[in-house]
Amino acid sequence: MAGTPHHSDVLIIGSGAAGLTAALNLADRFRVTVIAKGQMNEGSTAWAQGGIAAVLEPGDTFESHIEDTMIAGAGLNDREVVEMVVGGAPAAIERLIELGVPFNKEAGALHLTREGGHSHRRIVHVADATGWAVQEALLNAALAHRNITLVPDMVAIDLATSRHEQRYSGAGNVWGVYAVNKETSRVTLFTARATVLATGGAGRAYLFSTAPRGATGDGIAMAWRAGARVANMEMMQFHPTCLYNLEVKNFLITEAVRGEGGHLLLPDSGYRFMPDFDERAELAPRDIVARAIDHEIKRLGLDYVHLDISHRDPEFVKGHFPNIYEKLLTLGIDMTKEPIPVVPAQHYTCGGVVVDRDGRTDLPGLYAAGEVTQSGLHGANRLASNSLLECFVYGDAVANHIAGCWDDLPEPPAIRPWDESRVTDSDEEVVIKQNWTEIRRFMWNYVGIVRTTKRLERAAHRIKMLGDEISDYYGHFRVTPDLVELRNLHQAAELIVRSALARHESRGLHFNLDYPALADEALDTVLVP
Ligand code: FAD
Ligand code: SIN
Repeated sequence: MAGTPHHSDVLIIGSGAAGLTAALNLADRFRVTVIAKGQMNEGSTAWAQGGIAAVLEPGDTFESHIEDTMIAGAGLNDREVVEMVVGGAPAAIERLIELGVPFNKEAGALHLTREGGHSHRRIVHVADATGWAVQEALLNAALAHRNITLVPDMVAIDLATSRHEQRYSGAGNVWGVYAVNKETSRVTLFTARATVLATGGAGRAYLFSTAPRGATGDGIAMAWRAGARVANMEMMQFHPTCLYNLEVKNFLITEAVRGEGGHLLLPDSGYRFMPDFDERAELAPRDIVARAIDHEIKRLGLDYVHLDISHRDPEFVKGHFPNIYEKLLTLGIDMTKEPIPVVPAQHYTCGGVVVDRDGRTDLPGLYAAGEVTQSGLHGANRLASNSLLECFVYGDAVANHIAGCWDDLPEPPAIRPWDESRVTDSDEEVVIKQNWTEIRRFMWNYVGIVRTTKRLERAAHRIKMLGDEISDYYGHFRVTPDLVELRNLHQAAELIVRSALARHESRGLHFNLDYPALADEALDTVLVP
């Protein structure tokens, strides 16, 4: 059965840092609806540990932060975008402080920690759980605003576009979204004059990922199906240090542990190997550190390497990393006395829906912000702690553009309701689980940190086979949240592999043994639907 249609001025899909920043910037003037597919705090934002990058240290400069971002991005960044985001950082931090985020301080000033690729102390943080504090502050402000309606457990299925108008049009406008309620299974049409995608990344396309369960690339897949360009999907970031534990598979050990002096060691000999790979050692950009660990693990047949900060004062370690310390203690590891077993795991989706500096996508009425986008900030490899920052700056940019051109944004016409007349309830849910696991496993094995063309082709072949099966299933059975996610995960995997096959060089996060050299020209991989 269909739910009652819901109309607002602006619809935001996603309640993380990007979505809520946009909502709070719009709500004084407009009625804003924010939908999320679980609880409002279940995206990556709440899981962020290290912090937010901003030029605040005496002696640091915007130019230096820009340079560090571009060096990590291996020449693929858009310099003007980098300037815009880096320049917006101090104001973004100021607003978060006004919202009550209790950033750590030392001697009256904000405490700045350090992470890989940064040439200065530059990361403001709330101990080792920055994201949780940020998510809570944004959510409390949104809950308190009478113009913001928050709708949890509402899974967006597909964008409502000109193709769904009662009188079909091929104009390409986006008028909102069809979404299925997790509890009632009813599909509701949400319409608005402007729709903002803030759905986060596609990390769960990989077997091992630090990202939460919902990072299935829904926004990227929906925008692609609606006709928007997607770029640089091969640039999947692997975080060097995810806890190696057979029970707890996706617990991140923040880069700030290395920033505060942690060393990477081989488990048997205790040999510190990073200086052999890069003069910046443990503080080289992530792609370099993750590849070095992967190399050592494969070379020596290891399950993991060690991250060791036990040489530092125990009180310092507990004070800086209280949550990690406590969590590890429950697993029998005392990080003040012994090393932590770690492996690289997928962490961040650098590619995504192509947006301009106002967060506009290719489709009229559709904006996007945060990890779902390819804005030009990260290039071929994101610099640590630049992504929350991007969410704040682009959340603002999107809101400013919508407000600035409000009178030019048309009211949605009549849109057709969701049609379930030709489908039945699924009798084979096992297909979803099977396909989900299969995708994540071959993506990990064939499209991981080090790639070859043959492995990518194997992945492409499997994606094609599964695609036929998933389309058939989607065409015959009533839509469920699990089916929505599987369809999107598959679409995201297809875009990643297609992009990886199209790049005939090794740059940043994309390393192909068949094309080990860097091409002369740095070009985005832009896929056109
Ligand atoms: P998210 O916060 O992921 O929010 C996505 C939202 O979209 C959620 O509300 C979700 O429910 C909703 N959604 C998704 N699909 C649908 C759908 N189909 N229908 C309805 N709603 C949907 N970055 C930093 O800068 N600093 C850090 O210290 C840092 N640490 C990190 C640690 C971890 C463990 C992880 C995983 C990431 C970390 N990152 C960090 C990256 C950063 O957290 C994310 O890039 C950022 O939070 C993304 O924010 P977002 O608003 O784009 O999306
Ligand atoms: C971390 O704390 O290591 C994650 C930082 C980031 O992803 O930017």
